[in-house]
Amino acid sequence: MCGIVAYVGDKDAFPILIKGLYRLEYRGYDSAGIALLNESLKIYKTRGKVADLENFMQDKDHKGKIGIAHTRWATHGEPNDINAHPHYSRTKKLAIIHNGIIENYGPLKEELISRGYRFTSDTDTEVLIHLIEDIRQNEGVDLPEAVRIALNQVIGAYAIVVISDDHPDMLVAARKGSPLVVGIGDNEYYLASDATPIVEHTKDVVYLDDEEIVTVKKGEKMLLKTIRNRVKTPYIQKLEFNLSALEKGGFEHFMLKEIYEQPRSIRDSMRGRLNARDGIVSLGGILDYEPKLLNTHRIIIIACGTSWHAALVGEYLLEELARIPVEVEYASEFRYRNPVIDETDIVIAVSQSGETADTLAAIELAREKGATILGICNVVGSSIARATHAGVYTHAGPEIGVASTKAFTAQVTILTLMALRLAIKKGTIETSRFQQIIDELEEIPRKVEETLNLDKEISSIAKIFTYARNFLYLGRGYNFPVALEGALKLKEISYIHAEGYPAAEMKHGPIALIDREMPVVVIATNRGPYDKVLTNIQEVKARKGKIIAIVTKGDKKVRELADYSIEIPETEELLVPLLATIPLQLIAYHIAVMRDCNVDQPRNLAKSVTVE
Ligand code: F6R
Repeated sequence: MCGIVAYVGDKDAFPILIKGLYRLEYRGYDSAGIALLNESLKIYKTRGKVADLENFMQDKDHKGKIGIAHTRWATHGEPNDINAHPHYSRTKKLAIIHNGIIENYGPLKEELISRGYRFTSDTDTEVLIHLIEDIRQNEGVDLPEAVRIALNQVIGAYAIVVISDDHPDMLVAARKGSPLVVGIGDNEYYLASDATPIVEHTKDVVYLDDEEIVTVKKGEKMLLKTIRNRVKTPYIQKLEFNLSALEKGGFEHFMLKEIYEQPRSIRDSMRGRLNARDGIVSLGGILDYEPKLLNTHRIIIIACGTSWHAALVGEYLLEELARIPVEVEYASEFRYRNPVIDETDIVIAVSQSGETADTLAAIELAREKGATILGICNVVGSSIARATHAGVYTHAGPEIGVASTKAFTAQVTILTLMALRLAIKKGTIETSRFQQIIDELEEIPRKVEETLNLDKEISSIAKIFTYARNFLYLGRGYNFPVALEGALKLKEISYIHAEGYPAAEMKHGPIALIDREMPVVVIATNRGPYDKVLTNIQEVKARKGKIIAIVTKGDKKVRELADYSIEIPETEELLVPLLATIPLQLIAYHIAVMRDCNVDQPRNLAKSVTVE
């Protein structure tokens, strides 16, 4: 959940590190710190955001061509100046930044205390740096070896970078269960939790694998080995995104920019995979596993949060088109409930970040039981992308706003392509129907653009409900996951309590909540169970609830009943989630802005949830 960035080379480290922290702030933002090595190793850290750290450092010594920096999302110990990273070793000759959790920090700490170590913070990280220094002193080994030996004693997850004032041109870093990327520049190295702080300096990167340690020295080749001491050859990859993907590009918030990027990101998700003119859908990344997919008796999709909502849309699509039974599971539940699963099963993990701890653990469990694991990830080279047998990247581009928007529509796009491909291969769809759907799919980016043109209208509806205390979102069929997603977007960024429900379930409980104070968002597009949803709307009306309806252009019946209607373009029922989600993202965004909430960095949340 934290962001780490480090630099060694010929340039001043401070500007690189502080800018890198701003880029990584979406990962965590309750405290931040920097260690710089010039004549001695100095640490500056403070509670608060990166801007607070920058202010705090204004009159401090910024010198140093090597440094490490961290932005934190607290796990062990409250967010304060002391618990912020980096942490010194006892002699203050070493410092560390860490992302992850050391699970056995308790016994390690006791052991160190019994040998005279004193701790200043409540963090598990401080244990690790004392341990490294202890090994270095007592076993007379060099720093990389001391780090290696220490990591062999550690249980848990980590991405770490260690700096030492004995080595003014060297950093030692390692990962297990938390991402770490090395950027290779000219006579210099960058290390970071993801490529966002690196891309403006170099496009050549190495993604570390679990239990790998890297030693980078200015002007020398990097040394990569495993914590079992096996030397490895680094695999250098080229970054495929540009700096503009990380900037707000004139938008007030990343979230708004990312909402507006959806015509482009959906197009990118389909690029090279959908050829409507020739009637072809193909997903190269999972081609080798297609025979297995075509013959499987069921698919299990695992995910969390918004990705779980996309997975639910996937369930409807795969069952309707390819006639394959699908189960959608919260990764956090799946991993702890001894699921019945074996080598005949196919598990699809859906994740924007590719780092979600629960999803990773669920993958591990399914893999142990022999299942085939496929991934749908956005972040290239992420842990989930590596942990799966094969997969498809969504190509939505970096998503910086903590609330997921374009990643959701990209995931749904991939699941749509997958269902279509399997359906045509299995013969569970008529060719003419297949062609009809893919022709329409190709139109979706343009229709998303059309939907985005409703922004002003949506903003004025949002204004009316800025001070609502609760919201209910209702939808049926393909629009049920859309309702869930709309409610999640609203609650996470505006802090208004919101619940998504299958519209028909309302009468089994939530109807008790409805009165004139309760706004109810109903996704009531014209295909599928339209008449049933109409009845549900009447039930809300009868109890004086305020209806905000998402309807198909030209709709009359719902418009007559609803207090406010938002008209989206007509499309196939199974493609409606790609359009209907857009106004819900915008409603949440505008309400949050009007309530003066920090849209891109909502309280208590961080972009990638790398802890349980
Ligand atoms: C909601 C949101 C979260 C994530 C969830 C899974 O806007 O962003 O609910 O969807 O934490 O994250 P990934 O997709 O990275 O596995």
